[in-house]
Amino acid sequence: MKIENSLPILLLAIPLFFMMQIGHTSPVEEHVVSYSGFQVWTVATNTDEERSALLKYVQLYVPKPFQKELGKKLSEANITFVIKIADLKEVIKNENANIKTSTFSKSKSAHNMNWTSYHRLADIYDYMSYLAATYPSLVSLINIGSSYEKRPLYVLRISNSSSLCSKPVIWIDGGIHAREWISPAVTTYIIKQLVEVSANSKMLFDVDWYIMPVMNPDGYEYTHVYNRLWRKTRSMTSSPSCRGVDPNRNFGFKWGGLGTSTNPCSDIYKGTKAFSEPETLATSNFILGKANQIKMYLTLHSYGQSALIPWGYDVAYPNDYNDMLALAKSAVSKFLKYKFSVGNSAALYYPAAGGSDDWAKSIGIKYSYTFELADTGTYGFLLPASNILPVAQDFFPALGVFATKVATLK
Ligand code: ARG
Ligand code: ZN
Repeated sequence: MKIENSLPILLLAIPLFFMMQIGHTSPVEEHVVSYSGFQVWTVATNTDEERSALLKYVQLYVPKPFQKELGKKLSEANITFVIKIADLKEVIKNENANIKTSTFSKSKSAHNMNWTSYHRLADIYDYMSYLAATYPSLVSLINIGSSYEKRPLYVLRISNSSSLCSKPVIWIDGGIHAREWISPAVTTYIIKQLVEVSANSKMLFDVDWYIMPVMNPDGYEYTHVYNRLWRKTRSMTSSPSCRGVDPNRNFGFKWGGLGTSTNPCSDIYKGTKAFSEPETLATSNFILGKANQIKMYLTLHSYGQSALIPWGYDVAYPNDYNDMLALAKSAVSKFLKYKFSVGNSAALYYPAAGGSDDWAKSIGIKYSYTFELADTGTYGFLLPASNILPVAQDFFPALGVFATKVATLK
């Protein structure tokens, strides 16, 4: 057998194997995963055959006992790879070094929020309560349901008009995937800019904003306490040792199609049915209730530095794809520091059905985008907290472009 022919299998088998190491912990659920001795490798693929196996690059989480053997195998097969992170535990330790772990919850007249560290859910929720209490004519805190573990699901409405008359709405969510910490951080930065920085008040003239910083709070907390690289929700599955559903494979459009798994231990497990998860169900019901006003759906993920346009379930294009593409291009043209690629989600990355962006588009929200924020893989999900402000500041002007467009869609 020519070695080339075995590459796609190798490239698929190895990531799946190592993803399993990350995707679920031992049957002892509340066991802390330390990633001691792990490295992160980026492996390049060269031929079409290799590429068709999945992606241009694959990122592997390689435990110490496998490093020597795998390195040898890859070299023999002429596959280039780079050790992106030589000591995963160390990077995790340093990424959020400035965090103040205050255990007590703040009153409505104070908050712990800043954008120099990644915050626990309590800080984010306290900040939302603080804003609602401090700017009652501008901000309302809406409880749209609860998570599997009974944490509240909060949406912040930012509007300078009464709740009765509504302008066109821009929806933004973050934290669908638990480990993508830059997403809730940028989302709360956006909230701060819209509410507390008067220079941005023109962004409220013609548009109302609904912003949900953490759609998957159980997963988010789990990444802070037990496993930094957890992606999914925390619901019980049919497998006692594997928890969680990928919320971005659980939305009710083309549910269960390409790029999804029926295996509860997989990181892309689709769940038992569309909207099986209380988080995706509550979010979708809330959005449906406002579907006439919501003209834009934005969801923030990491990493990749890209603006992804539906459809994502397959390489397929909505009728008005060119409108969506043009607007995304003019938005990312505002970015000075981080270069973003723009394109069809399935073409740029991989087909993946059941995504929130596809669902939003399917219910008639014309402009629906997934943003994969920084970086492009140096730190990946573990982007040090010192990057929050640069990333958020670079991103914010895109919202000016979006607001201007949405204002015309009465
Ligand atoms: N990285 C994201 C994910 O895998 C991309 C989602 C893009 N949207 C889609 N419908 N496939 O969830
Ligand atoms: Zn994501």
